[in-house]
Amino acid sequence: MPRLLILGGTAEAVELARRAAANPKIEVVSSLAGRTSRPRRPAGGLRVGGFGGVDGLLDYLHQGAIDLLVDATHPYAAVISHNADQACRRAGIERLSLVRPAWRAEPNDRWIEVPDAAAAAARLPDLGHRAFLTLGRRDLEVFASRAGIWFLVRLIEVRPPTGFADATFIQDRGPFTRQAELALMREHRIDCLVSKNSGGEATHGKILAARELSLPVLMIARPPPPGGAQVASVMEAQDWLGQRIREG
Ligand SMILES: NC(=O)c1ccc[n+]([C@@H]2O[C@H](COP(=O)([O-])OP(=O)(O)OC[C@H]3O[C@@H](n4cnc5c(N)ncnc54)[C@H](OP(=O)(O)O)[C@@H]3O)[C@@H](O)[C@H]2O)c1
Repeated sequence: MPRLLILGGTAEAVELARRAAANPKIEVVSSLAGRTSRPRRPAGGLRVGGFGGVDGLLDYLHQGAIDLLVDATHPYAAVISHNADQACRRAGIERLSLVRPAWRAEPNDRWIEVPDAAAAAARLPDLGHRAFLTLGRRDLEVFASRAGIWFLVRLIEVRPPTGFADATFIQDRGPFTRQAELALMREHRIDCLVSKNSGGEATHGKILAARELSLPVLMIARPPPPGGAQVASVMEAQDWLGQRIREG
């Protein structure tokens, strides 16, 4: 029976695992980095923690007798996607990337696209003084030293990073509605949003709210996609798997 490894950490990965695990002709194992203490548990097998770079992943692919890999990680998780590309090439394993489409700016949006978090932090003082940061922990450090700006920082788990002189940290996990985001931004008198272009519905509410409030959005650009076969939806990934199972 073919064995599938799903690199996860997204809602799409959980949904793909659910559908694939329901198919008796394939064995499914998902992999999580282990960043959050209470992740949604996918159907099928699960392993947690880094592999140890390309070589570690390659060992895992061999030892786990993996036949197919779907990289369903977040569009900003560029290191693991690169490692998966390299390891699959070396192991001769077919890989598919499941990448959710980016949001697109509409005429009323005030997006300022920047290459990375450091560039967003540098532009921030020109745009606002009460900023809403919706980034992961690891991207926050560059904002901490910005003087004269108050930050509202939303994290999945509250372990506030050190160094922020003036900030409020809130813990919450999506999905977030447009109405809830509007209320939060109004309550805290937010005048600038800093966001990744994650795509999908679950966190789109803040983009809609910023549009409604005419707020500038510092939008951090996506890293380049990993290359190779790519689909944009769980259904397409399921079709890709179905073809390989039938052919196998
Ligand atoms: N970056 C984001 O904005 C974001 C947002 C939501 C969810 N996530 C999820 O959070 C996880 C970590 O994201 P990241 O941006 O820190 O990744 P990253 O920078 O691409 O990867 C850093 C290291 O974390 C380990 N890793 C990442 N994803 C893994 C997985 N699914 N299974 C096993 N190890 C994994 C790998 O360690 P080794 O080299 O030791 O193998 C990798 O080299 C990903 O699974 C991603 O889907 C990320």
